[in-house]
Amino acid sequence: MSGRPKIIRISSPDGPSPARGAGNVEAMAEACAHLGAGELVAIPTETVYGLAADAANGKAVARIFKAKGRPRFNPLICHADSLAMAERHGIFDERARRLAKAFWPGPLTLVLPKRPDSPVHDLVTAGLGTIGLRVPAGPARDLIAAFKRVVAAPSANLSGRISPTRAEHVAAQLGGDVALILDAGPCQVGVESTIVALDGRRARLLRPGGLEVEAIEAVLGEKLERVATGDKVEAPGMLASHYAPQTPLRLDATDVRPGEALLAFGPDMPKGAGTAVMLRNLSPAGDLTQAAANLFGALHELDACGAEMIAAMPIPDHGLGEAINDRLRRAATLDEKSRPAAGKH
Ligand code: TXA
Ligand code: MG
Repeated sequence: MSGRPKIIRISSPDGPSPARGAGNVEAMAEACAHLGAGELVAIPTETVYGLAADAANGKAVARIFKAKGRPRFNPLICHADSLAMAERHGIFDERARRLAKAFWPGPLTLVLPKRPDSPVHDLVTAGLGTIGLRVPAGPARDLIAAFKRVVAAPSANLSGRISPTRAEHVAAQLGGDVALILDAGPCQVGVESTIVALDGRRARLLRPGGLEVEAIEAVLGEKLERVATGDKVEAPGMLASHYAPQTPLRLDATDVRPGEALLAFGPDMPKGAGTAVMLRNLSPAGDLTQAAANLFGALHELDACGAEMIAAMPIPDHGLGEAINDRLRRAATLDEKSRPAAGKH
């Protein structure tokens, strides 16, 4: 497919009754028709926009990999409308069910043993014996309910690039490859889901994300084992150079140098902030939830502003700060590789 995608504006996920207006019902029907025909539809979730396909249709799923330029070995998350639908594809133990009941719909992905009778295509799970499942909030969930089956959906960005939190980001990166973009405005959470593996062993954190690790541990009653980046790529989204803007990024910046743009956090500005090529403050009040919601949008803007470098102020490492710092570290990694002379900041 090529050319400009059709974009349909639907009610925002923050509205009182998310996607149930008459206009939305029509949009959902159109989206279902595209999914049923094996085409790709960009869908708004509470975390980031997803690039959705029928998870049981291998050809449709292959289109996702092609559009994103994504390595085949990197498995995709399946999105369900309910725990009941998810249970048709993954084997839930008591802990998994407890987490699903506590946090779905919401920004939590569970990696579970895949049911042998699940029709989800092997390409989705990259042939692993496990499956990543989540129930998203907002219009995406209504779409899945209308489609009546799980959709595979990675973030709707080119592989290795910043995830989209607005429909315009999707149109800019993948416009030629999607049949339809459902536009519900900016995503509320703004960073991808937290991924937890529960496959018999101790619960493991595969990716920090939009749900605080502390909240998950409180419900589980146990600490999550941290799978360190580089140890073993279990969630290939953990590859070091993920989420990279094209402009190099300098972490923990306490000053702004000539030619730099500033990614700020909190009320206090660093030295030289007045000379920044562009300034985006993730949260002037120092609120980590607001900062997460603004992160990718700010990176998209700073990346496009023509600065030589993006200086990122330090962000506290608790709550959603863990996911923010994770994404910033990955964004900074590409810069070190492509600019061997650059320091380890
Ligand atoms: O918030 C999100 O999770 C968004 C929205 C669209 O739902 N999706 C998203 O998908 O971030 P993606 O494909 O960009 O990242 C999915 C991550 C990848 O790192 C992948 O390796 C991991 O989930 N994953 C999926 N299935 C897995 C499995 N069976 N075992 C281990 N990791 C898995
Ligand atoms: Mg992604």
